[in-house]
Amino acid sequence: MTAIKTFNQSANADTDREHQVQLDLLEKLCVALESGTDASQSTALLTELIDYSEAHFMSEELLMRMKSYDDYEDHQDDHVQMLEVLRGLATQLNSGQTAQATGKARDMLGFISQHIATRDKRLADHVRLGL
Ligand SMILES: [Fe+2]
Repeated sequence: MTAIKTFNQSANADTDREHQVQLDLLEKLCVALESGTDASQSTALLTELIDYSEAHFMSEELLMRMKSYDDYEDHQDDHVQMLEVLRGLATQLNSGQTAQATGKARDMLGFISQHIATRDKRLADHVRLGL
């Protein structure tokens, strides 16, 4: 196997793993909010999710630039939007607006799942084909 093929396969495997971590954290956050466990647990999960998402999005954006990817701008817009929503969630949690934050977290899980199934899938196909 060529070095570039190995790189492409490992980049996609890393991205898949990172998506799973992101989805697991978000699902845990939804459950914590919905079950009304203490706010500090939700805040800790959300902080971890935001930090992880920032790093994950940065690595995906770097990969897109390396591959001269044609959907870079729209894809990055999704990332910016997701981080804005997550930071807005943190503001709501900090100000005690738990009910609104709970609904928003579930919506976010839907949005991220959709992003992974469409834009991230397209990027993975592009990387896999070595385009
Ligand atoms: Fe993405």
